Amino acid sequence: MSALNLPKGPQTNLWLQTFKWVTSPLEYLETCTKSYGDIFTLRLGPTFTPRIFVSNPQAIQQIFTTDPKYLDSGTAAGLDLPLLGQNSLLGLEGKPHQRQRKLLTPPLHGERMLAYGELIRDITEQVTNQWQDGKPFSVLSSMQAISFRVILKAVFGLEDGPRYQKLEELLIAILNPKRPVVRAIMFLFPFLRQDFGPRSSWGNFLLMRQQIDEIIYAEIQERRSQPDSSKTDILSLMMAARDEAGEPMTDVELRDELLTLLVAGHETTASSLAWAFYWIHSLPQVREKLLQELDSLGEIPDANAVLRSPYLNAVCSETLRLYPVAAFGLSRLVKAPLEIAGYNLEPGTVVIPCIYLTHHREDLYPNSKQFQPERFLERQFTPYEYLPFGGGNRRCIGMAFALFEMKLVLANVLSSWQLERADSNQVLPIRKGLIFGLSDGVQMRVTGKRSQNQPIRQTTAV
Ligand code: HEM
Repeated sequence: MSALNLPKGPQTNLWLQTFKWVTSPLEYLETCTKSYGDIFTLRLGPTFTPRIFVSNPQAIQQIFTTDPKYLDSGTAAGLDLPLLGQNSLLGLEGKPHQRQRKLLTPPLHGERMLAYGELIRDITEQVTNQWQDGKPFSVLSSMQAISFRVILKAVFGLEDGPRYQKLEELLIAILNPKRPVVRAIMFLFPFLRQDFGPRSSWGNFLLMRQQIDEIIYAEIQERRSQPDSSKTDILSLMMAARDEAGEPMTDVELRDELLTLLVAGHETTASSLAWAFYWIHSLPQVREKLLQELDSLGEIPDANAVLRSPYLNAVCSETLRLYPVAAFGLSRLVKAPLEIAGYNLEPGTVVIPCIYLTHHREDLYPNSKQFQPERFLERQFTPYEYLPFGGGNRRCIGMAFALFEMKLVLANVLSSWQLERADSNQVLPIRKGLIFGLSDGVQMRVTGKRSQNQPIRQTTAV
């Protein structure tokens, strides 16, 4: 084992490192990995704490399997959550984190998740029936509408109505800032968060957050005044839960957790779906192969068959590999002296599993910048080589739900509609707050209906 040390990293001015990180994070990470390998240190403002970026599968395995007592995420790891709040699952640690995960896991898995199949299909139809022959539309906007309504139903047990339309508008606006770089700078430097009125970046953020809070608190109040024990949505579950002292969750705790699920489950799935449509309609051979597979599922394929379709699975996997919406996992704070990949790390050091760089390792994914779903048919990757949903005690709680939704939406849309891209713009990933979205909404148009226009049949078991 080496002496106490840190992995190498750029020696340039720390502000310059921070500037590059804010303005072109993915390019900067690629430059660093070329120079310093698959474990390197960056010191980013304003604290300049060493942050170790890891894209080495063995080291990622160590990170994901280390006891959270020694290495964990949460607010202590520097996760600043001005939108989601301090009670968000993302910010919690230790026992409270474990307890909250246990509560939130069942509604997003198994039978409870499969029960959303019909809803996903209905919502997809509602949204896509608005498409008009030949008229260009933004795929990202359509996918945002679908994924928002789906997650709203799962979380609140409700959809539509003026309150929810307003919430949808606000969430889309707050998650897609007009000036993403300014937002990124404000998130990194809390002292820049100054409210100069609703036209200023931070003032506008605060105003939207306040409007979102009003809607969520109104919903919580309504539920408290009209309790309905037959409801099985996540809000009802959280309202019924009691901690060890027999206390229910407070309104602020409920608000933070609800918003976390809405935000974490909405834009991530919508952007991933928009990427999938982009690739499928940019590469005719991929589209042909996928349609052949979907058509072979028969007249009325059931959701089980869709979930198990190998090429559809490969297309989703490759979409999440190439431009993962979470380019890196949550920061993990070293809490006790720890050795990772031969480096002795001191408490206070931050370790970040770098999903984007791992997914672009040429030894694992040759021609990594190309969209090639076949790589997932030819080879199996370990959870430390392929990690779009992170791993360990922080692995995405919505993973199964997101994959289920992606596959059902893709199968329904592709079986029903003939689409083509309405422009030939190259779309690239750009930072949008915590996640990486698309630089463009992906303009497409309908060129016809497909004959195999069948709904996906509901299923009960996988
Ligand atoms: C394609 C869609 C999605 C992607 C790519 C994605 C990715 C991720 C990643 C990378 C993490 C961090 C894991 C880590 O650091 O190890 C995460 C955490 C999380 N995700 Fe997702 N996610 C998606 C959809 C969803 C959905 C649908 C939900 C909820 C309905 C959700 C809820 C969460 C929550 C609550 C956490 C925090 C977990 C914790 O701290 O324990 N995500 N997600």
